[in-house]
Amino acid sequence: MPGIVIIGTQWGDEGKGKVVDLLAESAEMVVRFQGGNNAGHTIVRDGEEFKFHLIPSGILYPGRTCVIGNGVVVDPKVLIAELDGLRRRGVDVSALRLSANAHLIMPYHVMLDTAGEAKLGKLEIGTTKRGIGPCYADKSARLGIRVQDLLDPKILRKKIMAALEPKQQLLRPFARDPKLDLHAMTEEYLRYGHRLEPHIADTSRLCWEALDAGRTVLFEGAQAALLDLDHGTYPFVTSSNPIAGAACVGAGVGPTDIDEVWGVCKAYTTRVGAGPFPSELDDEVGAMIRDRGHEFGTTTGRERRCGWLDLVALRYATRLNRLSALAITKLDVLSGIDPLRIAVRYRGSEGAVFDDFPYHQSILHTASAEYEELPGWEEDVSEARSEDELPPEARDYLAAISDGTGVPINLVGVGPGREQVIATAAAGVRA
Ligand code: IMP
Repeated sequence: MPGIVIIGTQWGDEGKGKVVDLLAESAEMVVRFQGGNNAGHTIVRDGEEFKFHLIPSGILYPGRTCVIGNGVVVDPKVLIAELDGLRRRGVDVSALRLSANAHLIMPYHVMLDTAGEAKLGKLEIGTTKRGIGPCYADKSARLGIRVQDLLDPKILRKKIMAALEPKQQLLRPFARDPKLDLHAMTEEYLRYGHRLEPHIADTSRLCWEALDAGRTVLFEGAQAALLDLDHGTYPFVTSSNPIAGAACVGAGVGPTDIDEVWGVCKAYTTRVGAGPFPSELDDEVGAMIRDRGHEFGTTTGRERRCGWLDLVALRYATRLNRLSALAITKLDVLSGIDPLRIAVRYRGSEGAVFDDFPYHQSILHTASAEYEELPGWEEDVSEARSEDELPPEARDYLAAISDGTGVPINLVGVGPGREQVIATAAAGVRA
């Protein structure tokens, strides 16, 4: 089973890192294929906490090749800090490979992100202000600077000059920022290039070699389906495609290299930043979920908006990604909440019923969710290690998700620790 894509099915923060971490044990290679340091995940290993923004968490396994693919946008300063942090903690990072074709986040991208949000005022997207959107915009405009450019001082300087020039107007509020000095920026990025050079590689080729040898390659998505630039809740989305199809583009492999697609889904829903969220809970249950689930962003520390599980959105994500399996995370957070609700359809402001995720932005913004109620459970499930150890109500809740999407649940997370997981009967022996 060589090619497995792991993606988020909601608005991000589903716990993909933990699922990747578990599957990485029996994989050869872990590949990030989109996004940048807007992502963040925390892995708890032997009681020690590791926070990742760019490097795949597979790096914690000695000898595992970890790839930052061409589809990722890389802030080299952040990447170097992450590498140094891991090194200081004794982690061998020599197996990290960085695509020579990946685009670089430059200081002006971060400034443009901040300025763009300020300009939008009340209409702001709530970005992570890491320069993601402006970097992808430059990539599309063919004004991007790529990792390989770091290795050629002349080309680097030329490209920075060409990219900076059309932005002067937009960057007027930052005009005096020394970070925008062409010479200083070129020197700084050349230094990054020097540091990163041992990791720079033709990463597509590395993926082909592993796949052709029948080894397992995990393609690790960041963000999630509803933040997808094409299929998410536009414009309240990220600037890349976090759906499974993008793994091929962002890693440089073919669609037939993908054998399985695992969707990671929280037992409830969260969202950071602005945008529609039909099953949002603006009450004490929402606050309880936020507290219990520690729903604060790894990257920005922002409070996450919380709500009930949304089957309408999950069915949409299931089809967009053609999921072969689901991993449900944070089931433990729902203990003691009775009754539980699952959104099964939306009702538009004019009374129309939507069983499917509506394509029209205005409908989505005004739709409210309609629910099916399920009995909750009181028991703490964090010690459960098999389905039989779960209360019947928790099993029924999981069955409602599986039946509602037609996708088997392979894994259930019941706590932050790596051992706090249930590999279901559907998963066979792999997990
Ligand atoms: P950007 O990706 O920083 O441009 O932000 C665009 C939208 O995606 C904002 O609503 C962010 O909060 C959201 N977003 C980006 N990355 C993540 C993530 O890793 N988890 C959750 N939301 C994210």
